[in-house]
This record gives sequence, structure tokens and C-alpha cells, in this order.
Amino acid sequence: MRRAADRIAGLILAGLAAGTLGAVSTSAAPAGAASTDLKSEGPTQPAKVQDGQYTDKNGDPTYHVTDGGKKVDWYTMSGYVRYNSNCIVCHGPDGMGSTYAPSLVDALKGMDYAHFAGIVVGGKKDVNASQELVMPAFGDNKNVMCYLPDIFTYLRARSDGALGRNRPPEHEPKPAAFEKAEDACMK
Ligand code: HEC
Repeated sequence: MRRAADRIAGLILAGLAAGTLGAVSTSAAPAGAASTDLKSEGPTQPAKVQDGQYTDKNGDPTYHVTDGGKKVDWYTMSGYVRYNSNCIVCHGPDGMGSTYAPSLVDALKGMDYAHFAGIVVGGKKDVNASQELVMPAFGDNKNVMCYLPDIFTYLRARSDGALGRNRPPEHEPKPAAFEKAEDACMK
């Protein structure tokens, strides 16, 4: 059994390996980046984009939804796919919740990336519920950890109302950096 601290460390490494968090938060925005390129549907506007990944003013991953909700950034698309293979069984289609697990469309309102990551890495148990509800810990599951910013980004778009239900019809191209980081993380 790995300690929670090790899990968190592993998570941070996964984030760095994925070339996402570390790279995005330390690099400066390109001078004169056109604000129109960053404009998104929904209330949260990206402050920066690097290698196809958008981040908000706090450096948290965020979505880039355009074309009236029809087109999404690569990370939102990837998050949709990963959500559907790892989370849908309990949290229901499109993050809407089920009789067993809460709606993540609701839960993500006001939840930042660090809080989200902590729950997914370490799990959560509702000891007060009449039925024992368990959110499993995914800290050792690469199919989740290597795509954690992606899943957050997708759920944030759903929670913000920037993205409707079902599979996004169009997406931005897969960044070369994503593919490289994915290979490194999944190894
Ligand atoms: C085996 C069922 C199951 C799976 C699979 C599952 N969850 Fe959960 N999850 C739960 C339950 C049950 C809760 C509520 C736990 C509680 O209330 O303490 C929960 C709670 C959460 C919460 C906190 C919600 C809140 O209101 O605080 C988040 C965030 C979350 N899950 C994300 C995910 C993500 C992302 C995935 C996929 C990687 C996932 N879950 C997969 C059952 C599951």
C-alpha cells in the first residue's frame, strides 16, 4: 500500500511527464497572443494555450469550446473518452450522476484542479450515507493518472455549461507534445 504522499508525488510526476502542468505554468505567454484565439464558449476564459492545452489565470487546465459548442480542444476530447472508460460506470453518462454516485456536473462547480486531483488520487468514502458510498482511489491507475488534466477539463466544460451532452462533434488536432507525453506516462 503506497502512502498518500507517494501517490501525490506520482501524480505530480505524471502531470509533468504529460508535459502539461509544469510546462504550462512556468512558461510565459507568447507576446501578442491573439485574444480571439483564446475566446471560448462558457464563463471560464483561457488565459494561455501551450501545445494545444489551455489554462486559466490560475494555471488550472481549462476548456476551449468554439463553434457554438460543436468544437472542443484536444484535452476536452481526450477527457471525454477517458471519462467514458473510467468514470461513467458510477457517475453516469455525461457526468450527470447515478443512483450510486453524485453528478460531477454539479460537483465540479467551484472545484479547482488540486481539489479534484486529490479526490481522484486518494478516493473518498461517505461514512454517513445509509448505503456505503465509495469513490475508489485511482492514484495507481495510469489510465486515469496520465489523463487527469484531460478528465478535469472535460468535466469543467460540462459543469460550466460550455459543452452539452454526448460526444463533441469536432475537436482541435492532437498536439505532437500530447502524444509524446502520453507514451512517456503510459510506459
Ligand atoms: C465505483 C464507482 C465510482 C467510480 C468508477 C468513480 N467514482 Fe467518483 N465517486 C463515487 C462515489 C460513490 C462518490 C461519492 C463519495 C462520497 O460522497 O464520499 C464519488 C465522488 C467523486 C468526486 C467528489 C464529488 C463531490 O461532490 O465531492 C469526484 C470529483 C469524483 N468522484 C470523480 C471521479 C472521476 C473523475 C472518476 C473516473 C476517473 C470517478 N470518480 C470514478 C464513485 C465512483
